[in-house]
Amino acid sequence: MSTILEIIKGPYLQSPKVDGMTIMWETSMPASSCVDVLLAERIHSGHQGNYRKPDQVLSTIQHEDFTTIHRVTVEGLAPEQLYFYRISSRDTDSEVMSDTFPLKTAVPPGGAFSFAVTSETGGYSGFDTTGGSINRRIFQQMQRYRPDLALFIGDIVNDGREYEDWETYFFGPGRDFLTNTPFYSCLGNHECNGEWYDKLLDFPAPRNYYSFDYGDVHFTCLDSTDFIPDDTYPYANGGIAPGNAQFDFLVQDLASSTAKWKIVFFHYPPYVSGGYQVEDLRQLSPLFEANEVDLVITSHTIVYERSHPLYQGQIDEARGITYIVAGGAGAMPSWLLPKREWHTSQSVAVPHFVQVVVTPSRLELRAIDDEGRLFDQFILKKDQASQRTYF
Ligand SMILES: [Fe+2]
Repeated sequence: MSTILEIIKGPYLQSPKVDGMTIMWETSMPASSCVDVLLAERIHSGHQGNYRKPDQVLSTIQHEDFTTIHRVTVEGLAPEQLYFYRISSRDTDSEVMSDTFPLKTAVPPGGAFSFAVTSETGGYSGFDTTGGSINRRIFQQMQRYRPDLALFIGDIVNDGREYEDWETYFFGPGRDFLTNTPFYSCLGNHECNGEWYDKLLDFPAPRNYYSFDYGDVHFTCLDSTDFIPDDTYPYANGGIAPGNAQFDFLVQDLASSTAKWKIVFFHYPPYVSGGYQVEDLRQLSPLFEANEVDLVITSHTIVYERSHPLYQGQIDEARGITYIVAGGAGAMPSWLLPKREWHTSQSVAVPHFVQVVVTPSRLELRAIDDEGRLFDQFILKKDQASQRTYF
C-alpha cells in the first residue's frame, strides 16, 4: 500500500436518480470525502465549443470521517440534467483532487435514453491472449455511444474475492468510461460471492437481487448463481419456486411495476445454442410472460446471441420475450454448438457490447463489436395498448 495519498479507483458513478447520484472512489490511505457539483452552462450559439468551462460550484458534500472506499450521495439536482463534478480527499498531511467529469441525472418516466450492456471483463481473462486489450476496446467503444447508463451482466472480474482483480479487469480498463456512466451489475459465478462486490459497488437492498426504474424501464436484477448450486454459492432455500426469497421478491417486484418496459438481467442464460446454457432457469419464464417482461439479458457463455421472441417454450411474434446473451468482453467460438438451435435468431462469438435506445413506444437494440461494427439489431415497438411489434 502506498504511503502517499492518491486516488487509486475512480471516481465512478452509482445509483443514478432523477435528483441525484452516488459517487464513489478509493484512495491509497484513509482520508475524508468531498464532492463538488458544478454547473454546466450550455452555449447555444457561436463557435466557442459546447459548454463553458464549469467553474461555478453548485453544492459541496463533505464527509470528515476517514476511509479508503468513499461513497457520497448527491441529492437535490434536476432530472435529466447535465452537471459536472469533481472529488477530493484530505488526510492530516495532504489533499488530492480529481479532474472534472460530466454527471447526468436519471431520465424521468416519459423520457428517452440509452444504455450499454457488456460482461465477462474478468470471465474471459483465462482465455485472453491479448493482455486485456479487449476490455479496453469494449470500454472505448461504449464511450463512443455516450450511454446514460451501463449494465454489466456478471463475471466482471476473474475472482471476486481477490482485491487486485477489481482494478485489473474492471476499474482499470474502464476508468474513463466509469467516470461519466453510472452502472449496475449482477453477480456472476466469477464474482465468487466475494466481499469486494459489496464494498466497491452501490445497489439497492437486499444485495444480490434488486430493481430500479430509469425512464420508462423497470429493471430487475437477479442473482442466478443463488438459484443454481455452485461451489461458492449456497443453494437458496426452496429452489426456483415460491418460498425462495429471491423468487418471492421477483413475483412481487414484477407484479407491482406499472412501467411501460420491463427488462430482467441475470448471469446464467436459459437460452443459448452453446455451452453453459442453464435450462433450469426457464422455470422463471412463465413469471416473465405473465408480467409482460420485454427483454431478458444474460451472459456467462462468452458469445452474443439473440433469441426469437419466445412464449411458453415456442416462437411467438405477438407475445414472445427476447432473450439476449451479451457475453461481451471476449469471444469463445468453440463454445457454440455446430449448428444453431430452434430458439436462436442471431448468434456470433465476437467481443461486443449491446446498445439499447429506449423511448416510451420503441426499444432499439444494437450489437456492436470491439472495432465499432454493427453486427445485429432489432426494434420492438409497443402501441398504446401495450401490443408488441418486432422489426
Ligand atoms: Fe460466468
